[in-house]
Amino acid sequence: MTPEELAALFRAEFELCRVHEGETVVVLAGPHSSPAYIQASIAACRALGAQVFEIMLPSLPAGQDPGQKGGTFVGRTPLTGQRVALETLKKADFVVDLMFLLHSPEQVEILRAGARMLLVVEPVEILARLFPTEPLRRRVEAGSERLRKARELRVTSPAGTDLVIAVGDYPVITQYGYTDTPGRWDHWPSGFLYTWPNEGGTTGRVVLSTGDLIWPFNRYVSQPITLTVKDGYIRKIEGGLDALLLRQQLESFRDPEGFAVSHIGWGLDERAQWPALVFETRSCGMDARSYYGNVQFSTGPNTEAGGTRHTLAHFDMPMLGSSLALDGEPVVQDGRLVPEDQRP
Ligand SMILES: [Fe+2]
Repeated sequence: MTPEELAALFRAEFELCRVHEGETVVVLAGPHSSPAYIQASIAACRALGAQVFEIMLPSLPAGQDPGQKGGTFVGRTPLTGQRVALETLKKADFVVDLMFLLHSPEQVEILRAGARMLLVVEPVEILARLFPTEPLRRRVEAGSERLRKARELRVTSPAGTDLVIAVGDYPVITQYGYTDTPGRWDHWPSGFLYTWPNEGGTTGRVVLSTGDLIWPFNRYVSQPITLTVKDGYIRKIEGGLDALLLRQQLESFRDPEGFAVSHIGWGLDERAQWPALVFETRSCGMDARSYYGNVQFSTGPNTEAGGTRHTLAHFDMPMLGSSLALDGEPVVQDGRLVPEDQRP
């Protein structure tokens, strides 16, 4: 894509986000941010008449990152401890996050100040292929209506998953790839929704099957993994190599909160491709999270839901062919969406 084409793509995205004249936009970048995305963001904002500037942050000082985690931790970022930068971001109307603030207390603070925020880190091929649409937004929101009313979420699968989750204490979060609402965050591209379990309210078993995905390993499971969950925490991780890697990595954080069950929900985007990570190894896995009819299990933090569990350990595990029911009503059946208003 030429710089002009990229700027046009960003402009179309920012139009969905209703960036307009008189607004102030901050483009937040760090040492790994794409220079092309910085330039495209600035060009798009200018074309829409908004004031725009960039904040470029250096990497975390040596010794402040959690050691040999190979980029697999969340919630501590180059913005950590940068009070002046944070206060500036809180004054923006719209923040383009080209870094990855997700699961950080700073992101919560910026949103509470009323800025809308968009994360953009996926490769351009994925940004374009899964470009957000209003019909997808409506379907995701239809899902959130149902999830909001639910008190029990149950996930089952032919592989042996049977997990019962009490829900309702935490909000439902939608992701449809753009945000035009003050104080709302989204990630371009997205097509899924989720909530968090009530504290201690998850018990049962999750069996990850061959082909399911573990992020941030960015690795498809090659041998089944059985996670035994009791009272909101993973108590046992069994299986072959993949189970060993997951167990070792979770233990390396030396933080029991990393074993907590985190957000859980399902995906709706029929354009998403399950094998995308085979070809797009720089992706952070948005195809799998959005994949039509996937059920996503995860571990770790709940701070962006208003909870107090701040942990650097976080794993997303989108699963194929599972079923999800809300108060006994099927929403996903064997990897297919049941409600008419959530289908394409
Ligand atoms: Fe996650």
